[in-house]
Amino acid sequence: MSSLFLDTLRGRRGGRVPVWFMRQAGRFLPEYRRIRERVGDFFELCRNVELAVEVTYLPVRLLEVDAAILFSDLLVPLLPLRSMEVNLKEGVGPLIELKEPLDSPKKLLHSYCVEEELGFVGAIVRGFKREHPDVPLIGFCGAPFTLLSYIVEGGSSKSYHRTKRLMFERPSLFRDLCDRLVDLLVDYAVMQVSSGVDAFQVFDSWAGVLSPSDYRSFIFEPTRVLIEKIKATGVPVIYFSTGTCGCLKVIRDYPADAVSVDWRVELADAIDVLGSHRVIQGNLDPSALFMPRERLKERAEGILLQGTRAKAHVFNLGHGIFPDTDPDRVRWLVEVVHHFTP
Ligand code: CP3
Repeated sequence: MSSLFLDTLRGRRGGRVPVWFMRQAGRFLPEYRRIRERVGDFFELCRNVELAVEVTYLPVRLLEVDAAILFSDLLVPLLPLRSMEVNLKEGVGPLIELKEPLDSPKKLLHSYCVEEELGFVGAIVRGFKREHPDVPLIGFCGAPFTLLSYIVEGGSSKSYHRTKRLMFERPSLFRDLCDRLVDLLVDYAVMQVSSGVDAFQVFDSWAGVLSPSDYRSFIFEPTRVLIEKIKATGVPVIYFSTGTCGCLKVIRDYPADAVSVDWRVELADAIDVLGSHRVIQGNLDPSALFMPRERLKERAEGILLQGTRAKAHVFNLGHGIFPDTDPDRVRWLVEVVHHFTP
């Protein structure tokens, strides 16, 4: 399919800059909260094909963003594993309880039939594309480091010390675990693409806790392999991370079509490192949505102006929308982006 969003990811500039937001289908939307209340458990909503299709479409209908992102979660590919219990605790976040030790990667991250266990994800993608064939749909998965950090820490963390300790103390085990995750994630990504997603984003939300040289030594290679294999399916791939402005020279070497950066780096500086042949995505601070409108507009336009230095630009936040954000403000920001001419 062709669209402004997909053309931009492929490096062709259209008349305007496309925009979507991370966590656009989430708790800041009252419509989401109402649907979520009906279902109760978060992962039940992820498994409910009809409702997940509806939630995926909500931000396109309500905010007029240029792309939808599959409603699911980073942790979904861990749900079929017999070696762990995965839950989302209200107000706390993800909690993971291991039933196998970390030092048996083949047992901990055993293979499973993705069609059988996670067929609902494929069904959501097909359902969405049937109802909304003209809306580009982004599939996604976690990057090996970010997903492994949830397994090792048992949930979110401030320091990621346990994950880094494992990485430094037992580097070959760390590598085996990353490689096992990549195998599972490739199957999962291929299923999303064969079901119909038009683009794919790899989320490396917590890679910014690593020094640039450790990033290069420990996680570059498994992440590169994941990106390369997803790219081989034919869809454009976006690599997203936060706090990694010191690692952009490493990230430059990924075969990703686009790189998403956060607000800790000026977009123009990121483009200088990544190269003007690269598509850039980003990079408004999600907290900036709480500024007065005129200042928010200035901020957004500053980013859009810097984005003209890249091969092409997809406007986004540097990370997910906060749940207390005013949906009207988000809708207005979409208009600001759509009306921008450099
Ligand atoms: O709108 C979208 O972006 C699509 C859906 C989506 C969700 N999670 C829905 C969700 C996507 C792409 C994700 C990815 C995800 N999940 C990431 C990577 C992006 C990022 O923010 O860094 C991560 C780290 C996770 C793990 C996870 N899941 C966390 C940290 C949380 C939040 C905990 C909390 O309560 O704030 C979740 C839960 C989650 N995933 C929610 C949603 C809408 C909120 C759950 C709810 O309804 O209570």
